[in-house]
Amino acid sequence: MLQFEDEISSPRPPRIAGVGVAAPEATVARAPAAPAASAARRVSADDKRVINGQTDVNQLVPFKYEWAWKKYLDACANHWMPQEIQMSRDIALWKDPNGLTEDERRIVKRNLGFFVTADSLAANNIVLGTYRHITAPECRQYLLRQAFEEAIHTHAYQYIVESLGLDEGEVFNAYHEVSSIRDKDEFLIPFIDTLTDPSFQTGTPENDQKLLKSLIVFACIMEGLFFYVGFAQILALGRQNKMTGAAEQYQYILRDESMHCNFGIDLINTIKGENPSLWTPQFRDEIRQLMQTAVELEYRYAEDTMPRGVLGLNAPMFKEYLRYIANRRCQQIGLDALFPGASNPFPWMSEMIDLKKERNFFEARVIEYQTGGALSWE
Ligand SMILES: [Fe+2]
Ligand SMILES: [Fe+2]
Repeated sequence: MLQFEDEISSPRPPRIAGVGVAAPEATVARAPAAPAASAARRVSADDKRVINGQTDVNQLVPFKYEWAWKKYLDACANHWMPQEIQMSRDIALWKDPNGLTEDERRIVKRNLGFFVTADSLAANNIVLGTYRHITAPECRQYLLRQAFEEAIHTHAYQYIVESLGLDEGEVFNAYHEVSSIRDKDEFLIPFIDTLTDPSFQTGTPENDQKLLKSLIVFACIMEGLFFYVGFAQILALGRQNKMTGAAEQYQYILRDESMHCNFGIDLINTIKGENPSLWTPQFRDEIRQLMQTAVELEYRYAEDTMPRGVLGLNAPMFKEYLRYIANRRCQQIGLDALFPGASNPFPWMSEMIDLKKERNFFEARVIEYQTGGALSWE
């Protein structure tokens, strides 16, 4: 990047504040500068970087990371709100003493116990952590949308809890009180803490690796693995025409989360591409080890939530499923498969992500949102 003489003596604003070198005061102070110098200070796409960038993060364009902008647009086109989904059938079924088996009720309560706080953890991780370390405005734009989606997800889980009249204290404290849930969150929290620590800054190889590791844990393990037993269970209920309102909500959430995970993977791979020295053999081994531990934790959660076979599912089927997902996450970030040969026992889950294949009464509403985004002047 070009270095100007006046920059040498000017104090640089703290990069952690996320405003890059072109902080407002600096821009104002240089307003009378010669036209040639002002023009030279304009953002060039070539100078943008996903981390440790020095370009002005307030200037979305010129685009460099088109993939991030496209995902932002796609995410907006998928907008939905929880209260638009009918919950009356779920409420009747839940209140009917013969409506669901004890094992099915356990699945619903454990699911909500994990998810009601998981998406707040995710939102805080983005807003208080990830966002300020990312210096590409296209990526920040997506993160802003993602943060709102995490709020919608927490809203959706809360809406289900309220609709069914569940004990809120029990559900919202499950992440402290239920060990299979607590263990997953305790695994995640140190990585979230790294990013949200106000004194943490990128810019050294060690800290850049810490950032990358936390991003991998967040996208590939939290959003990409720890959500999948729960998603498959509730969607399996819906496939048997039970808790169809909750299942609809989960279907929308799954679609959002699969985009979050894909965005995270693109972000990780772009950081790798821009900073290849971070991707050391030792770092790769650490990631594989984390993935291995995560599969074990999620499998324990599967065993706890399904002590017996239920809905045509059982915990051992999830062992294979989690191995299959872990392989995919590893391969998506350029690591070898951890469990060669694992196959997907739930091919219907991939169909669930693509809502266009599902015939349900929301389809019309979703299309309405998509066209609603463009103003009509007629
Ligand atoms: Fe979420
Ligand atoms: Fe997410």
